[in-house]
This record gives sequence, C-alpha cells and structure tokens, in this order.
Amino acid sequence: MTQPYVIDKMISAKTISARIEELATEIRDAFAGTDKLIVVGLLRGSFVFIADLVRELDMNVEVDFLEASSYGDSMESSREVRILKDLRGEIHGRDVLLVEDIVDTGFTLSHVTNLLKSREPRRLETIALLDKPSRRETDVKATWTGFEIPDEFVVGYGIDFAQRNRNLPYIGKVRFEGGE
Ligand code: PRP
Repeated sequence: MTQPYVIDKMISAKTISARIEELATEIRDAFAGTDKLIVVGLLRGSFVFIADLVRELDMNVEVDFLEASSYGDSMESSREVRILKDLRGEIHGRDVLLVEDIVDTGFTLSHVTNLLKSREPRRLETIALLDKPSRRETDVKATWTGFEIPDEFVVGYGIDFAQRNRNLPYIGKVRFEGGE
C-alpha cells in the first residue's frame, strides 16, 4: 500500500504543449536533411510525450519503442537498467531520436544511449521532457530538454508513482499527507 498523497499541479498541459511545439521546430531544423527520422520512445514513461511530439514533427518519421526499467515500483533507482523490450527495427546507419520522459540519476539514458550507439546509427540525439540535474549520478545530458525541475517527486503525462497517475494530462508534484 502506498502512503496517502496529494498531487499539486506543477506544469500545465498547455505549457507542455507550447514547449513541445518549440522543441519540434528545433528537431525539424536539426534533422532537416534526413529522409526518415526513427523516433524511439523509451517505455513506459515516454508514451504520452512521444505521442504528442511526433504529431508536431512535420517530417517523415518511423516510431519504435524500447522498454527499460530501473525503478520497478520503487522510488529508488536500482542503478541497474534492464532492457525488457528491444526495438523492432534496425537503426544501423539511420538518424535516431531517443525520447525519454525524465532524466534523474541518468543511468537509464546513459545505458540506453550506449546500447543504441553500439548499433552504429548515423546520428543519435536524445530528448527528455523533464530533467532533474541536481539528482545526476552519471555524466549525461539530453540534446533537448523540455523543462529543468527541482528534486521533486513528479507524476503525470506518462510518469508514474507505483504505476499510478500516468494518465494525468499535466505534470504534478507528489505531496505526502502529513509530510512536507
Ligand atoms: C523512469 C523514467 C526514466 C528513468 C529515469 O523509468 O521513465 O526512464 O526512470 O531515471 P534515471 O535517470 O534515474 O535512470 P522507470 O524505470 O521507472 O520505468 P517506466 O518508464 O516504465 O516508469
């Protein structure tokens, strides 16, 4: 059982949507010469972000998914990234954009980036909707970041707390009742 908590809105759906429009323009410009961009969503957290992002990318894209997990239902990173589902397609010689919901310790992004690089894409860039730089334990940064946030426990827009709240349309901050 999870301790009772409330969720305070932190980033509204409207703010997220406006930021995604800006990011999509930058991505389109950066990959202007590509015939097809392979957009890889890191499951499960990125499923909402990737859905909104690709619909703003007015270019030829292929969507693929990879599932990695390091937290399970815990609030603490296991620091061991497990690949639970691999890509369906080949990325050798292709232009790839890896889509992550949040970079916290950085272990997931670092591990998955290294995995994809070993397959020798022509170009690999990364995007994370949220970044918590104060929590970083590895030397990694996404090419594009939606929002830098403080060290708060966040949920919504794909991000869970013990598998709950992924379906909130905004990013919220978890506050434990009786806590801070
Ligand atoms: C979460 C989140 C990121 C990762 C970030 O995934 O979706 O992928 O942790 O944390 P890190 O920078 O400390 O590695 P999780 O393992 O909870 O799986 P999920 O995406 O299925 O929720």
